[in-house]
Amino acid sequence: MKLLFKRKSGGSAGQVDLDRLPRHIAIILDGNGRWAQRRGLPRTAGHKAGAETFRTIATYCRDIGLEYLTVYAFSTENWKRSRDEVSTIMALLKKYLLEAIETMERDNVRLRFMGDLAPLDQELRDLIAQCNAISERLTGCLCSICINYGGRAEIVHAAARFAEDCRIGLMRPEELTEAGFEAYLYSAGIPSPELLIRPGGEQRLSNFLLWQCAYAEFYFTPVLWPDFTKEELHRAIAAYQHRDRRFGGVKK
Ligand code: IPE
Ligand code: IPE
Ligand code: MG
Repeated sequence: MKLLFKRKSGGSAGQVDLDRLPRHIAIILDGNGRWAQRRGLPRTAGHKAGAETFRTIATYCRDIGLEYLTVYAFSTENWKRSRDEVSTIMALLKKYLLEAIETMERDNVRLRFMGDLAPLDQELRDLIAQCNAISERLTGCLCSICINYGGRAEIVHAAARFAEDCRIGLMRPEELTEAGFEAYLYSAGIPSPELLIRPGGEQRLSNFLLWQCAYAEFYFTPVLWPDFTKEELHRAIAAYQHRDRRFGGVKK
C-alpha cells in the first residue's frame, strides 16, 4: 500500500492509498468571487487566481496517475452575471487555452470540453478545436472542462439526439438502455466520477453532472477554490477511501 501525505496532526484522515485512487474526480471550481472580495479585490481577480489553482491541481492529478478529471468552469446559469465578469472569465479561458496549446504536449494532459459550445465566440471555439486536435495525440490524464455546461441541458440534448436517431430509423425506443443513453451525453466514453469535490462551502450540485453523479461520493469543503491545495485534494481522496460504497447492496 503506497501512502502519500500525512497530516501534521498525525491523524489518518489525510493519508491517501495511491493504489486505490478513484479513476475519475469531478470538481466544482467554486469560491473565486468570495476569495477576491475578502481581499478587497474585484471578483475577477478571484477568477485569475482560480485559473492558477486549476493549473496546479490538474498537473498534480496527472502526477498521481488519475485517469479522468472533470471541472465545472462556467455553468449555463453563469451568464446571469455582469457583462464585465462574464467577459473576464471568457478572456481568462482564452489565455489558459493559448498557454495550454503550448504546454499540453510536454505536460501530457489531454483537454476536452463539455457543454453547449455554440454560443462561445469564434476565437474561443478555434482554440478549443486546437486543444482537441493536440489531445488526440496524447495519452495522459483526460481533463474535461465544462463550459456553458448544465446537467439538465446535457440530458435534454442527449434525449433530443436519441429521438432524432429514432426518427431516422437508427434506433428504437424500446431498445434504449442506461448504457445506451450514456453514449448520447457529452461525457460519452468516460466512466462516471467516483468522487465529486465542491470547495467554497456550498453543499449543492448547482446543475453539475446530474446523470453521472448518481453514485458519486461527495466531499464538501469551506476552502475557497483559489486556496485549494494538493493537501486538500489528499484529504478529499482520503475521505473517499474511507467511504463504504454499497450501491444499494448490503455489506458482505
Ligand atoms: C466559481 O466561483 C467560478 C464561476 C462560477 C465561474 P464564483 O465566481 O461562483 O465564486 P463565489 O461563489 O461567488 O465566491
Ligand atoms: C457553480 O458555481 C458553477 C461553477 C463553479 C462553474 P455557482 O457559484 O455558479 O453556483 P451557485 O450559484 O452557488 O449555485
Ligand atoms: Mg459560486
